[in-house]
Amino acid sequence: MAPFHLAHLSDPHLSPLPRPRLMELAGKRVFGYLNWRRNRHRFHRRDVLDALIADIKAREPDHIAITGDIVNLALEAEFAPARAWLDNIGPPEQVTIIPGNHDRYVRATARRFATAFAPFLRPDQADAPEGFPSLRRRGPVALISLSSAIPTAPLMATGRVGAAQLAALEPMLENLRDEEAFRILLIHHPLRSTAAHKRLSDAAALCALIRRHGVELILHGHDHRHATSWIETGHGRIPVVGVPSASAIAHGRIPAAAYNLFAIDRAASGWRCDHSVHGFCDGPQIRTLAEQRLTWWRPRFQLQRLASARPQGPWTWGRWSHSPCRLATRAAPNRASAPTRTPMRKLQKPERRRRTGAFSGRGIDSARSRSIMRRATYWVTASTIICTSWDSASTTRPELVSWRKR
Ligand SMILES: [Fe+2]
Repeated sequence: MAPFHLAHLSDPHLSPLPRPRLMELAGKRVFGYLNWRRNRHRFHRRDVLDALIADIKAREPDHIAITGDIVNLALEAEFAPARAWLDNIGPPEQVTIIPGNHDRYVRATARRFATAFAPFLRPDQADAPEGFPSLRRRGPVALISLSSAIPTAPLMATGRVGAAQLAALEPMLENLRDEEAFRILLIHHPLRSTAAHKRLSDAAALCALIRRHGVELILHGHDHRHATSWIETGHGRIPVVGVPSASAIAHGRIPAAAYNLFAIDRAASGWRCDHSVHGFCDGPQIRTLAEQRLTWWRPRFQLQRLASARPQGPWTWGRWSHSPCRLATRAAPNRASAPTRTPMRKLQKPERRRRTGAFSGRGIDSARSRSIMRRATYWVTASTIICTSWDSASTTRPELVSWRKR
């Protein structure tokens, strides 16, 4: 039987952004609009996105998953062009989308995503409750969609799954495990984030639920970066894979646009999944950036690195990429032949693994403590500067000197 091919892209941030009405800019949108006009419109380009979509279509995947941030400010005028763009990618039966924080940017249009893109969200079962989590079965794959998108305060991009979704997710995962489906969880926010203003606030509860019931693969966007991390469970490790924005040119630490392709197949001992990353690197051509094989053994799975792209010298296409490829692939979970010393050291020290949380790399707890330490350092430094300047001012300004003398 032929493998099931799933393409995963995220954060297209469709451009051009329609001109908002003055009333629409009231509140949070004014910050987003200024940011778009100053910076983001230069980094999210429609020609890049179109090239990426053409490449995906040429590969004829069985299904395409888009993990949010389709629009930018959730303006009313953004939804019709976005629907036309989605219709052009493929029929709703072959395309699954979930909302990102930009799709539910403000309360006023928080429900527009669900109405404008309803066919792409609709679960298989006609009598299934509306909203999330929703389930779509395609071949051996079960696509489980979660929504972490909530309207937030200005300059915040946090997400939350919420108790209702978690409660509904539990029996869904349990049933799918009995059916032996390849369970893929789609969520916009990554489950681990070092940035407090962008994190998933109830990631710990979601991770605990996943550890109890398991999934085979988790796909996310939001960070606009290549990322592979792992959730440790009693039955092995679950890969958590992120992807850059589908419309980005490389800027700063943000890599150029890319997408993931997964070829999923049943193996004698469980599942086999060939994961490849395709995107822009050091030129205007889309090429394969990395390949790896994920093999699920009952109950454990292992990973075998096949190949990875290496930067070809300094950049030559400044318009597309001004730095070598940055493809961050975490260490393999293969206990038999761990490729680097770091994961092996962690495996040999279970107490360290407990302290750093669920992930094979730096855990949520350590990330949070680092963030607290950074803030504490900032406030101590700022306080020192203020006290020092006040002290020097109080001794040199004549009126204060005279006040002291009195
Ligand atoms: Fe985004």
